[in-house]
Amino acid sequence: MKHLFEQGTRQEAPTLVLFHGTGGTERDLLPLARLISPESSVLSLRGSVLENGMPRFFRRLAEGVFDEEDLVIRTKEVYDFLNDAAGQYGFDRGNLVAVGYSNGANIAGSLLFHYGQAFKGAVLHHPMVPRRGVTIPDLAGTPVFIGAGTNDPICSPQETEELQQLLGRAGASVSVHWEPYGHQLTSSEASAAAEWFRNRF
Ligand code: MLT
Repeated sequence: MKHLFEQGTRQEAPTLVLFHGTGGTERDLLPLARLISPESSVLSLRGSVLENGMPRFFRRLAEGVFDEEDLVIRTKEVYDFLNDAAGQYGFDRGNLVAVGYSNGANIAGSLLFHYGQAFKGAVLHHPMVPRRGVTIPDLAGTPVFIGAGTNDPICSPQETEELQQLLGRAGASVSVHWEPYGHQLTSSEASAAAEWFRNRF
């Protein structure tokens, strides 16, 4: 997968794995990563699907309607890539924290829904429920930050609460931060994510 890797300054800090939103690139979330954990190594991926020229992490049939078959294939593609990248760059595979926004938060959420050991923790900005009707692996002890907007037209507050419940029932320790806005990632939400990270890692 197309990606960039930046070596951090503190070996024990979790490596942040970045997933951009639709139409983004692997450079978009670098400032956010530096805010969340300035000393961490960063592995930032570019989604390998193109929708009208815009990179995404999996196909969709319509706005908010995911192509589940493709989602499962792309989720495995990312999972395999992370395992390979750990060997290539020498970071600890068991010490990864995902940071995703929108479509990127959805693929990160899908990794949590499909693989128990995908991430040590996750920062999900404006995620949706990636799949319904599946058994989520044991996520005991996995801290998850969800940033949400009370007026988000893409990800409704009900869907945020559903995701919080699904992850929580799988054992994850979920913190939801609400902003009185829409789908955008505001600086106050980014600061809340950074504070959440500092208190846990
Ligand atoms: C998605 O397709 O993952 C969500 O609708 C978010 C988006 O990319 O707009």
